Amino acid sequence: MAFKELVFSGVQPTGNLHLGNYLGAIVKFVELQNSHDCIYCVVDMHAITQAHDPKQLVANIREVTAAFIACGIDPKKHIVFNQSQVAEHAELAWVFNCVARIGWLNRMTQFKEKAGKDRENASIGLYDYPVLMAADILVYRATHVPVGEDQKQHLELARDIAQKFNNDFAESITAHGFGDGFFPLPEPLIQGPATRVMSLRDGTKKMSKSDASDYSRINLSDDADAIAQKVRKAKTDPEPLPSELPGLDKRPEAANLVGIYAALSGATKEKVLSDFGGGQFSQFKASLVDLAVAKLGPIGAEMKKLSADHAYIDAVLRDGSDRARAIAAPNMKAVKEIVGFLN
Ligand code: AMP
Ligand code: TRP
Repeated sequence: MAFKELVFSGVQPTGNLHLGNYLGAIVKFVELQNSHDCIYCVVDMHAITQAHDPKQLVANIREVTAAFIACGIDPKKHIVFNQSQVAEHAELAWVFNCVARIGWLNRMTQFKEKAGKDRENASIGLYDYPVLMAADILVYRATHVPVGEDQKQHLELARDIAQKFNNDFAESITAHGFGDGFFPLPEPLIQGPATRVMSLRDGTKKMSKSDASDYSRINLSDDADAIAQKVRKAKTDPEPLPSELPGLDKRPEAANLVGIYAALSGATKEKVLSDFGGGQFSQFKASLVDLAVAKLGPIGAEMKKLSADHAYIDAVLRDGSDRARAIAAPNMKAVKEIVGFLN
């Protein structure tokens, strides 16, 4: 069965939105608006899978929404909303809990990383998180999902769940007039020069919201001084920059900074190296500061202004939630009929 192309993605409101989120995800969200209908979700239900402060969560939901808009997402043409306002996400997640297998979830590497050593003490929500993520996407029957590299495994799980649902209920799906499959197998869109932005303190670790050191990441809310300090202090090695790509092998910090420069400027890494190769890191870093401040400064300023305007942000989310629900509700009703619920 052919499905109408629809883009869905989500970002957690867990604070410290950073350059990795921007280059790995939000830049692609903005681009896809020109070619597709898009739904962008602030996934607040994912944000309570680990300990959180309720006051901070509300502020973070508004901040991620403000960041979407400041980066160029148009909430009138497309849909921007927060997950918890559309109950169908949780409803479909329950059905998917009964489709997904424990063995599948046991393989999820992000759970292992996040749960750490004390796995017995992790919340069930943290373990079940990829099932909710599958429901987020499939409750809209979305076909394309722009994400960073770290979400690849979760997308594969979403495809497995969609496929098993289609197989398990094949007869009922056909009987209810939905052809030979109710859910599309959603495709991850993991492309571009910065699908995995690394920490500024350790080129082998990904840049993350939860890193204890603020110097490990450039936040979208950082001002010019903070950006300049963080880039200047970013870890490097004593060698000058190479002129060609193979020279970045085994130099994760240098490779990361070159990748960031390339992604922010829209040039290839080859071009960046041909411009800066052979020179000192200090020179390259000074240019990177100028570039990062020019690109991110205006976004940070707009984001702060917008997130302070609660009336505006809350109205955007309410309107987006209404429009999201209008798509999700008939899909959920169909799922109920397919699995044999009376409604
Ligand atoms: P999260 O902060 O986990 O909600 O992630 C939101 C989006 O940003 C997802 O699509 C992630 O894959 C992406 N993302 C998060 N960290 C990075 C990173 N260091 N590099 C590239 N993409 C990232
Ligand atoms: N798990 C994603 C992350 O941590 C966020 C997310 C939740 C998501 N639901 C989604 C991303 C649906 C894409 C589609 O980054």
